Amino acid sequence: MELSPYYHIIFATLAVLLSAFLFFLTLNSKSKRVNLPPGPPGWPVVGNLFQVAGSGKPFFEYVRELLPKYGPIFTLKMGSRTMVILSGADLVHEALIEKGTLFATRPAENPTRTIFSCDKFTVNASMYGPVWRSLRRNMVQNALSAAKLRTFKDVRVTAMDKLVERLKAEAAANDGAVWVLKNARFAVFRILLAMCFGVEMDENTIEKMDNMMKTVLITLDPRIDDYLPLLRPFFSKQRQKATEVREQQIATLVPFIEQRRSAVKNPGSDPTAAEFSYLDTLFDLTVEGRKYPPTNPEIVTLCSEFLNGGTDTTGTAVEWAIARFIENPSIQSKLYDEIKTTVGDRRVDEKDVENMPYLNAVVKELLRKHPPTYFSLTHSVTEPAKLAGYDIPTGTNVEIFLPAIAEDPKLWSNPKVFDPERFLTGGEDADITGVTGIKMMPFGVGRRICPGLAMATVHVNLMIARMVQEFEWSSYPNDRKVDFSEKLEFTVVMKNSLRAMITPRV
Ligand code: HEM
Repeated sequence: MELSPYYHIIFATLAVLLSAFLFFLTLNSKSKRVNLPPGPPGWPVVGNLFQVAGSGKPFFEYVRELLPKYGPIFTLKMGSRTMVILSGADLVHEALIEKGTLFATRPAENPTRTIFSCDKFTVNASMYGPVWRSLRRNMVQNALSAAKLRTFKDVRVTAMDKLVERLKAEAAANDGAVWVLKNARFAVFRILLAMCFGVEMDENTIEKMDNMMKTVLITLDPRIDDYLPLLRPFFSKQRQKATEVREQQIATLVPFIEQRRSAVKNPGSDPTAAEFSYLDTLFDLTVEGRKYPPTNPEIVTLCSEFLNGGTDTTGTAVEWAIARFIENPSIQSKLYDEIKTTVGDRRVDEKDVENMPYLNAVVKELLRKHPPTYFSLTHSVTEPAKLAGYDIPTGTNVEIFLPAIAEDPKLWSNPKVFDPERFLTGGEDADITGVTGIKMMPFGVGRRICPGLAMATVHVNLMIARMVQEFEWSSYPNDRKVDFSEKLEFTVVMKNSLRAMITPRV
């Protein structure tokens, strides 16, 4: 979360005056104050908001710097929102596993998010209750079950072939250099589009869809009035813009929805239509507590969630993987040797992945050291709760800082080092679902754990295996050391987007 200094300057004065006024109003209610976890002192009303914004640092860096002083649970007041930041495995276990139902809901959304989520009609944003249960059950059981995933095997094979083709073409035109994130994102987006809409789209249409998705994500970037609702009257232009983007999003996606609806109603009418798609599960979906199936705008929202959930996250993981291979050629060659021994001269297949322990260890280490999102999605409590003896009132944003757990020296040996061997000869292990204990949680844990976990794992394993089977990866220019600095762009990507040199293996 980076807030422009522009906002800072304009609203600081206004906020201070309001602060003083509201501070006196709130003095009377002090007796009702709850026992929140301690945190850095802030100003009345704005709390720590301007300290965070004025630091000029991404939110994850700001939080990381507070950890040594404030420990595994602390509070940040961000204007009208109270954030409790958790960074200890035991505390997260207490919240999301032991008190799982209590901590399984989401907080209220800001007005822009409410527009795009159709008032929380998504798996990720819905409150813990009947709508969430219906949408999540549908996604997990009807769309992402092992049987349904198998039906998309050909889509994945085609996407990997096209990825290799694109990389070869880009390298041929650029002295062997390719952009990693852009190509990995594109490959996974192609798969998700085909799964969602039941058609394989041409590259121009994929680009158009991708640009639409990016525009939406930019529109959803938090603004200062999300934290200080009193300032909303000053942001009517931005609200208008958000409504326009939403209209464009609906106009872009609805034709694909209608095309599929017609193919489902008239089987055989469209020879290009796939056997199954996520859309098919949505047209007549029964949602507990509602008498009608999802409307077109709601379907647009659910499709966008499906596409957004798996694109940047997977692309980001692949970018960090290639960076690690360039930094450690011995890891890359050990992986290549395993691929060769397992599959010989044929193309690596997703079924081979089960027989490749080194690849599995590499991917696990990757998700430990570089969880694509540094914070889990925001949790909230269904009723006032206690955590580590502190009060967690309803409406509190409970944020979980994932890297602190995955790099906790009490849980890992040499946690800063990228070393897949820890999961093999090092004898370390971790249950990625957190059920038997939390040591790393790139997909979250508990009731809200990522429903895309199995599919995402297949995508990351397959893409890495295929990219290493086809090419040897090295730095570009060839004397440059990889820069592991991070930056927030929905996920945490490499600050200097990775451009690498590829040499075909054969
Ligand atoms: C490497 C890839 C991925 C990573 C690292 C990842 C990570 C996460 C994380 C950390 C959460 C939050 C869990 C929580 O609230 O505690 C989450 C939730 C979610 N993810 Fe993923 N995800 C990935 C891929 C996917 C894919 C492929 C999909 C679907 C197509 C997906 C759909 C979702 C949804 C719908 C939720 C919300 C679940 C709920 O609120 O019940 N994700 N994911």
